[in-house]
Amino acid sequence: MALRSIICIPDPRLRLVSERVEVVDDSIRELMDDMLETMYAAPGIGLAAIQIAEPRRVVVIDVAKKDDPPAPMFFVNPELVWASEEKAPYEEGCLSIPDYYEIVERPTRVKVRYLDRMGAPKEIEADGLLATCLQHEIDHTNGVLFVDYLSRLKRERVMKKFQKAARLRESEQA
Ligand code: NI
Repeated sequence: MALRSIICIPDPRLRLVSERVEVVDDSIRELMDDMLETMYAAPGIGLAAIQIAEPRRVVVIDVAKKDDPPAPMFFVNPELVWASEEKAPYEEGCLSIPDYYEIVERPTRVKVRYLDRMGAPKEIEADGLLATCLQHEIDHTNGVLFVDYLSRLKRERVMKKFQKAARLRESEQA
């Protein structure tokens, strides 16, 4: 396993639509292991491959409570096949938008189809934090960020803040 660096906004790669995985082989499992290690180190509860600059439809999640043993989950080509009409607000954050949290409303329950770590087709029904996390990560595979659900004012404010920080870093390096 290897620790990888996480890309942040305004990196344009976060807007890419990731490619489907044709075969779940050792290279994909290695990618998932790197993602898991990177996510735990951050620390975070979900990570999509594009966040380590790999435009592939791969997601790792661990929503186990802090004092419980780790419970990593692996999703290849995850796809939302059903979402409840009922929605609930949840405060979200993102490793690609560090130290920024906002309330987002999403369906409370979802059904997701995916391939597991061995490439077997699976379906999962989720609610609560896992439902939110799955939707957030599937969005990443489609180039969508949680700030896209905020008001234009809020979104522009956070994008500008990160653009300014990126320019500062560039000028310091120059
Ligand atoms: Ni995220």
